[in-house]
Amino acid sequence: MSQLQNDRFLRALLREPVDRTPVWIMRQAGRYLPEYREVRAQAGSFMDLCRNAELACEVTMQPLRRFDLDAAILFSDILTVPDAMGLGLYFEPGEGPRFERPLRDTAAINALPVPDVATSLRYVTDAVSRIRRELNGTVPLIGFSGSPWTLATYMVEGASSKDFRHIKALAYDQPALLEQLLDKTARAVIDYLNAQVEAGAQALMIFDTWGGALAHDAYERFSLAFARQVIDGLVRERDGRRIPVVFFTKGGGLWLERIADCGADGLGIDWTLSLTEARRRVGGRVALQGNLDPSVLYASPEVIHREVGRVLAEFGHGSGHVFNLGHGVHPQIPPDHVAAMVEAVHALSPRYHD
Ligand code: CP3
Repeated sequence: MSQLQNDRFLRALLREPVDRTPVWIMRQAGRYLPEYREVRAQAGSFMDLCRNAELACEVTMQPLRRFDLDAAILFSDILTVPDAMGLGLYFEPGEGPRFERPLRDTAAINALPVPDVATSLRYVTDAVSRIRRELNGTVPLIGFSGSPWTLATYMVEGASSKDFRHIKALAYDQPALLEQLLDKTARAVIDYLNAQVEAGAQALMIFDTWGGALAHDAYERFSLAFARQVIDGLVRERDGRRIPVVFFTKGGGLWLERIADCGADGLGIDWTLSLTEARRRVGGRVALQGNLDPSVLYASPEVIHREVGRVLAEFGHGSGHVFNLGHGVHPQIPPDHVAAMVEAVHALSPRYHD
């Protein structure tokens, strides 16, 4: 069953033929859009916006009204899961996310519950259903979560971190305890993502924003192993259609061959390697999503056009590429520059498809 008018994004992730390369943008709903800032102010706080299905739906739709994008992404945050585990998420203006009760000792980790997603994260699945209705079959809806490792970094550090001192001390001093935390988090993430699929998400993305902060063997043990556990636990088909999964380890380029075996249909690629190399190294096992340097969008529309052309050429001919930035769009980017990027993908990509 598929009443989807535009399924390029889903097809590209399954490496099926498309007429042009699909494009969406990480953080496509966000502060670079004046209409987002307006709704955000109306909502009060960022979490009030996430908890209000009507407003979360509205900001999800905003970038689709401006740009001809091939996918919508649920408006929410990765930190809703630790919040549901009782850590008390809040945002300090200008300082990013914080937890009232970070996990700093064995007792806190032992006492951590796996949340009942159906009740404590109902506001997210309500938003998913509402967005699906509003999209009305135009483009697919992406659901998402943080990876267990990335969520654990926030839970243990209590905020964004530059040195990851608390979680790295835990990893080296008490690795079995960290694995216990990651296992609990993975079980919560599986329930959370499957609930999003149940509510209508048509593809899933797992953000491993901090995987690249790990040493090579620690990456395998603390990030990749638990990403695999999550992916193995996901519902992969619904209404007769595959639910593709994209896994994105920022800074994971050195480990691409290993990451390609995690069970995902597609891998997010940051801007530190060329898609030519990435494609050669994954050997057709998975699709690739990325990888324009988000800072290119500070430059002029002419330069943006040229750089989009370069990324498309680096992937080359055939399906299996979803165009995106290598990380989220920065809040100071002019929306016109985002429009120039999307138009360049539309204009330049058909030549790479038969
Ligand atoms: O992509 C989208 O449009 C969907 C929405 C989305 C948000 N966060 C909205 C948001 C998604 C997919 C995320 C994921 C997320 N959140 C990640 C993984 C992706 C990545 O960027 O690496 C991470 C690490 C977080 C944690 C988080 N949430 C941080 C560090 C911050 C502060 C960021 C900042 O720039 O201040 C948030 C808040 C947040 N999440 C905002 C948005 C639009 C900004 C909050 C605001 O409006 O004040």
